[in-house]
Amino acid sequence: MFLRGKEGKFMQFREINPSPRTLMTPGPVEADPRVLRAMSSHILGQFDPEFTALMNETMEMERQVFQTNNRQTYVVDTTSRGGLETVLTGAVCPGDKVLIPAFGRFGYLLAEILERCGAKITLLEREWGTVFDPQEIEDALKKDSYKVVACIHGETSTSMMQPLDELGEICEKYEALLIVDSVATLGGAEVKVDEWKLSACIAGTQKCISAPSGSALITYNQQVEDIVKARKRVEKGIRTADDIAGKLPGIPSNYLDLGQLEDYWSSRRLNHHTEATSMQYAVHEALRCILEESLEVRFARHNLNDKALVAGLRAMGLTIFGDLAHKMPVVTAINIPEGADGKVIRGMLLNEFGIEIATSFGPLDGKILRIGNMGYSSQKRNILILLGALEAVMLANGVKVPSGEAVAAALAVYEKEEK
Ligand SMILES: Cc1ncc(COP(=O)(O)O)c(C=O)c1O
Repeated sequence: MFLRGKEGKFMQFREINPSPRTLMTPGPVEADPRVLRAMSSHILGQFDPEFTALMNETMEMERQVFQTNNRQTYVVDTTSRGGLETVLTGAVCPGDKVLIPAFGRFGYLLAEILERCGAKITLLEREWGTVFDPQEIEDALKKDSYKVVACIHGETSTSMMQPLDELGEICEKYEALLIVDSVATLGGAEVKVDEWKLSACIAGTQKCISAPSGSALITYNQQVEDIVKARKRVEKGIRTADDIAGKLPGIPSNYLDLGQLEDYWSSRRLNHHTEATSMQYAVHEALRCILEESLEVRFARHNLNDKALVAGLRAMGLTIFGDLAHKMPVVTAINIPEGADGKVIRGMLLNEFGIEIATSFGPLDGKILRIGNMGYSSQKRNILILLGALEAVMLANGVKVPSGEAVAAALAVYEKEEK
């Protein structure tokens, strides 16, 4: 369509018609077609009982995916980063001491958000490509008292997964809350909120949940709920005589205000922002897809595709980055072979094959390439196509890799496991 632009010249404004892509990044990944279909449904009003019934169903399905009984389990209209900011801003008051075991870019993001909340931060740092021994965290908790320990479960910048099963117990012993970013793992690897004693957990939609980016899934326990209650302030324009301000300092964000969001997601249905209805349809359908597949089957699918991918990459002679005992099953990082340029490899994969993989950040920029194996993108077909394409791209870039070995190695994994 040609229309007049700002300067009176005719300009072309194209219809949205994106090129087909195979998304093998650590997010965003391909949305399940069922999710995309749900998103094209017509809009319901945010207080329509039909819509609020869907919200209640979403909460129930979300509890199952987070493996929790937390009452406060709902969705925030923001990306994962906003979800982190919502929970941290609500749970952490200015002056609170927070311990952050950081082992990659997103650990530092927690620190960045918390600094702006006025928290007093202590960073425990580790070389990228490793994770913490829970003992290291316990040692830090012994030395000083903290209100919160905040950490990343799946650190997508390095492909490492921090074991959490003992950490909740340790935090409980030292009376610290444990707030966890499971943005990259929820729906692709075990996240057991109640069993692991996580006080709060935050995830996004564009990774293993397999919906577009734009919603954050959050859950938090009674302790966090009590803090939120003590900080609660309802906006003047909608406040009633019963809405008495809590004793703790109010939450400094209006949009990301857990107290008011809770009221909208509760039977009170207090008006806050206008709900992003289509994203709610997306989350509802994505959660339905997960539960229909079952968590067990879904995790096994991701693990199998991970195994095949790693076998194929190794057969190509590539080396996997980091401590393999703690590699995420949904992200694999490879060391860029000497003499090859990561940007050129990625560019050729995208331009010639329509496959997108990712680079990394900070100290790993230009050193590793990251491959996602998440949600709807985690398919045998995608793994095999990626391995074949990567081999061709490596050869075209002068990297001597054996022909045909990668796909054969992956196929052998599938053959053995699928029997
Ligand atoms: C572990 C982790 N946390 C947080 C984020 C931030 O998510 P978003 O870009 O959806 O705000 C990402 C995004 O890649 C991530 O991988």
